[in-house]
Amino acid sequence: MRYPEKLDDIRAEYATPPHVPRDRVVDLSWAMGDVPNDLIDPYAPFGWLNGPDIPRLLYNPPAQGGMGAAIGASPQGNWVVTHYEDINRVYTDNAHFSNAGTADFQRLIGETFRSIPISIDAPEHHKYRMFLMPYFSPARITRDLDPRIREVVVEMIDEIAAKGEVDMAWDFARVYPVRIFMGLMGFPKAMFDEFLEWEWNILHSGSLEKMQGALRNVLNFLRGFIAEKEKNPDEFLTSSIVHGKIEGKALSEDEKIGMVWFLWLGGLDTVAATISQMYRRMALQPELQRRIREHPELIDGAVDEFLRTQPILSTRRTATKDFEWHGVQIKAGEGITCLNPAGNFDPTRFENPREFDPTRGDIRHFTFVGGIHTCLGAHLARRELRLLLAEWFKRIPEFHVKPGADTTVYPGLLSIRQLPLMWDATLSVR
Ligand code: HEM
Repeated sequence: MRYPEKLDDIRAEYATPPHVPRDRVVDLSWAMGDVPNDLIDPYAPFGWLNGPDIPRLLYNPPAQGGMGAAIGASPQGNWVVTHYEDINRVYTDNAHFSNAGTADFQRLIGETFRSIPISIDAPEHHKYRMFLMPYFSPARITRDLDPRIREVVVEMIDEIAAKGEVDMAWDFARVYPVRIFMGLMGFPKAMFDEFLEWEWNILHSGSLEKMQGALRNVLNFLRGFIAEKEKNPDEFLTSSIVHGKIEGKALSEDEKIGMVWFLWLGGLDTVAATISQMYRRMALQPELQRRIREHPELIDGAVDEFLRTQPILSTRRTATKDFEWHGVQIKAGEGITCLNPAGNFDPTRFENPREFDPTRGDIRHFTFVGGIHTCLGAHLARRELRLLLAEWFKRIPEFHVKPGADTTVYPGLLSIRQLPLMWDATLSVR
C-alpha cells in the first residue's frame, strides 16, 4: 500500500458533530496499526503527522474493526492528537481526560466489573496502583525475576543455537515472555496454547462472536483459578491478589477478577510483538545488529530505542467535560486518541527522531504511555528485552531473514506472525 504523505491526502468527508471544524476532519484509519507494510522502519509513514503544518487536533472516523471498534469508540468519530506536547497533556491531565472504559472488553458479554488499574481514574486509581506496584518494582523484578528470565531465555536460545534457524515470531517471541508471565502469575503451563488463542480472538479477530466466546472462556477460567487460590494459597501473584488487602479491607470479587483479568490481557502479547519487530529490524539492518553485538554496553539504550521506534499501541481517553483546546470545542464524552507513533518521532522533542540512536538516553517516549497509567509492566518488559539481547549475542552469530520469507509487518500490536531467521550454526556458541 502507498501511504498518504500530506494533510490533503487524508482529508475526508463523513458525518461529524456540528462543532467539529471541517478542516480537522481526516481519515487516519490507515495509521491505527491494521495496515501492513514492508519497510525497515514500519512506523515511518506516520512520522509527518507531527509536523508544524498539521492542526493540533484532528478528527477521525470511528474505527471499523479490531480493538478500537469493540468498546467505547464513539459512533461519530473521535479527536486525534499527534504532537508530543499534546499527547503528554492527554496522559497527564486527569481533570480533562478519563480512562474509564479502557480495555473493558468484558462489557461485550454483559460483565460490569472494571479492568483494574487501567480503566480507573484518579484519585481512585492510586490505591490499586500502590497495591500492585511492589510486585512490579525494579528492585523486586531484578531480585526475584531476573534469574528466572535469564534461565528461560538461555534455555530457549540453547535449543535453537545449533539448528541455525528459528521462526523468531512464532516459536520464540510468542513463547518467551508468556512463559515468564505465566510463572509470575502462577498460571498452569498447560494453559499456554489456549491463553494465546483466547487473547488473539479478543484483540485481533475482529469478530464479535469470537471475542465473546474467548471472553467467556477466559473469565470462566480466571474465576475458577481465583477460587482455587482462595483455598490453596501459593507464592505467586494471583494468590497475592486474591488474599491481598487494600486500605485494610479484603478485595471484592469484582476487584479480584478486574485485576487478574487485566494483568492477563496486558501481560501476554505486548512483549512478543516488540521482540518480533526488534529482530525483524536487526535482520533487515545488519549494521545496526553488528553495532549492538559489538557494543553490549549499548543494549540498555538500544532496547529503549526499539521501544521508542516501535510504539505498538496508540491509546484512547475520553473528555470529562466541555472545554476549548487549540481553538476547537471538545465535548464531554468525546474520545481522544493519542497517536503514539507520531508523538515518539516529534522533532521538537527528539533530535533526528528517525535515527536509531542507542546513546540517546531519553526514555520519555510514549510506548508505555505517560502519567498515572504508565505501563506497570515496563520494567519487566525492559528486563526481558535486555536479557534476551545480552544472552542472544553471546551465542548466536549474525542472523538474517530466511531467503524468500515474507517480512510484511503490521506496525502495531498485530505485528508479525512468522519471522524465519537463519545464521551459520557452526559459529553458534553453546
Ligand atoms: C513491551 C511491552 C509492553 C508495552 C508496549 C505495554 C504498553 C502499555 C500501554 C501503552 C499501557 C497504557 C494503556 C493506556 O493507558 O491506555 C500499559 C498499561 C499497563 N500495562 Fe503494559 N505494556 C507492555 C508490557 C506489559 C507487561 C509485561 C505487563 C504485565 C505483566 C503490563 C501490564 C500493564 C498494566 C497493569 C497496565 C496498567 C497500568 C495502570 O493503569 O496503572 N504491561 N501498557
